[in-house]
Amino acid sequence: MKEYKRYTITTALPYANGPIHIGHLAGVYIPADIYVRYLRKMGRDVLFIGGSDEHGVPITIKARQQNISPQDIVDKYHGIIKKSFEDLGISFDVYSRTSLPIHHETASAFFTKLHNEDKLTQMESEQYYDEDAKQFLADRYITGTCPHCGYEKAYGDQCEKCGTSLSANDLIEPRSALSGNIPVKKATSHWFLPLDQYETWLKEWIIEGHKEWKTNVYGQCKSWLDQGLHPRAVTRDLDWGVNVPLPDSDGKVLYVWFDAPIGYISASRDWAQQTGKSWEEYWKSDDSRLIHFIGKDNIVFHCIIFPSMLKAEGSYILPENVPANEFLNLEGDKISTSRNWAVWLHEYLEDFPGKQDVLRYVLTANAPETKDNDFTWKDFQARNNNELAAIFGNFVNRTMVLTHKYFEGKVPVNTLPAELDDILKEIGLLNEKISHSIEHFRFREALAFFMDIARLGNKYLTEKEPWKVFPNDPEAVKGILNNALQITANLAVLSEIFLPETARKLKAMLNMGNTDWSNAGKSILVENHPLNQPQILFEKVEDTDVQKQVEKLEQSKKDNLASAASFEPLKPDVAFDDFAKVDLRVGKILEAEKVAKTKKLMKLSVDLGFEVRTIVSGVSEYFTPEQLIGKKVVVVANLGKRDIKGIESNGMILYAENADGTLLLVSPVDEAMSGGLVK
Ligand code: MF3
Ligand code: ZN
Repeated sequence: MKEYKRYTITTALPYANGPIHIGHLAGVYIPADIYVRYLRKMGRDVLFIGGSDEHGVPITIKARQQNISPQDIVDKYHGIIKKSFEDLGISFDVYSRTSLPIHHETASAFFTKLHNEDKLTQMESEQYYDEDAKQFLADRYITGTCPHCGYEKAYGDQCEKCGTSLSANDLIEPRSALSGNIPVKKATSHWFLPLDQYETWLKEWIIEGHKEWKTNVYGQCKSWLDQGLHPRAVTRDLDWGVNVPLPDSDGKVLYVWFDAPIGYISASRDWAQQTGKSWEEYWKSDDSRLIHFIGKDNIVFHCIIFPSMLKAEGSYILPENVPANEFLNLEGDKISTSRNWAVWLHEYLEDFPGKQDVLRYVLTANAPETKDNDFTWKDFQARNNNELAAIFGNFVNRTMVLTHKYFEGKVPVNTLPAELDDILKEIGLLNEKISHSIEHFRFREALAFFMDIARLGNKYLTEKEPWKVFPNDPEAVKGILNNALQITANLAVLSEIFLPETARKLKAMLNMGNTDWSNAGKSILVENHPLNQPQILFEKVEDTDVQKQVEKLEQSKKDNLASAASFEPLKPDVAFDDFAKVDLRVGKILEAEKVAKTKKLMKLSVDLGFEVRTIVSGVSEYFTPEQLIGKKVVVVANLGKRDIKGIESNGMILYAENADGTLLLVSPVDEAMSGGLVK
């Protein structure tokens, strides 16, 4: 394998339009931080880069909604984000931001170089334009009817109801979100990066050259490359971002996905300015290893577009690996900033003071490395109580307390050196496994090996029962506790990469100086070394603690339903006589089964008291048969018979609909008679 002199480690720059949540942490920042802490422990030269991504349309929309400037928005969230990363102990060398002049200069110069060398092409296209607001409309600024599901408030880039990604041209009856007017098409000219020209090279570089990339990353790249690449616009008509540095480009800025990755370079320059060091070798020297930590939605930008930009520019190194993670869900639902469905880092740090490492632990143990995973508060509590507290904390505490009790808090002489040899051999092996896993970006596996060391210690004490042995054989207890203390010291060294706050506490208890990784697997504490008083490493997480968090989430679900409600307009009045023609009855669902080969249909048999009917209902996406059987419902009984997929359906069941389109049963509150009138 190639020898590298230095490491350039980047983490996706989070958009400064919301705080950091556990999905960001598990996907990007915690694995990157473990990796960097490991590299530093190994004595490698690392530049660890972070920063806020402060451009893009969503930031301008949020500013407009709140009637403040985009700069106000990003100032607020940059502050929150930066502080929460610090409090969690993410060990960035620099946390910069893309609204800084140094970034604007860097991104401008990058664009100018590509432009001067004819690496960009200019093309005209027709874009929607708002004649009142006198501006071109980004896709997000256009709403209209979704061509796929008919939802009337779809955005020009995506329909939030059916999830289809759209382009503004797909919308039926488009409207400007700025004025509500019907937008017009107007010609505009933009600069494009001709990605098609890089396709052959990218195939060589990734498909042939980087087979070792994670399968999720490699697979996504391959599918993009198989579909063929097209020129991509790198400028936009917008008044927030890095201005296009060309004459006659008023009102045009660089596309956010063009300037943001350049933000890694500007952040490095920012760091160099602050520290007086040089940034260039981290980006331009072949013996530097560039690694991008990102989430899966960023893969194409970091594996295809940014490398093509770097290649076009010509003086930079390319990423050597892009260990993207999948997504973390929360209590079974996709994390969403706009729906406030998230555990926010800054709130966690307030609600669980001193428990940074518990979050680090849980998010690493459950990291979505190969597939989407789910965070639940129950699991959080269980991992804290049953793993961190019951194994790691318990072992350390027993070792410390006993040493103070029997040996005045001084490391006793090792009377069982053969046992120590065996233990150290095992730790040495686990240590190698940890390194190997980390080098291959398998952090949850690495953490499991680390916990095996704590397990080994806990088991050793439990088996040896020094508290029982002491009265008869204090000499043996010296050996047992010396061994247990060496395990504890090893945990202190190794925990620095996973649980830095815990490592700090452990080292303070053990009265240890800085120990580097080369001590791992060795006997670290010398005879008679004085220890400090023990402190509890991991308090229990109580039911009430997690209950509060669950309630918080339930509340945000309720708030959402109320505030996101896009109420349907009232239908025109009907005559009472017309309404009275509808025969509504109480029915009881006796049987329910999904109709084969359909996605939505459910075949029900419904007891109306005077007869049992077959009714086909389009609700398979919302209910399982078990959820329906036995329920009382309201039936429209005089609709006549209809053939639905070859089944004769006689009647219709009523449901209530929530703002997110989910359906709920409409059922009499008290015991009702089947066949009774609903009127
Ligand atoms: N802001 C983007 C996101 O949150 C990530 C930008 S990564 C960078 O998805 F490369 F552009 F910086
Ligand atoms: Zn739709």
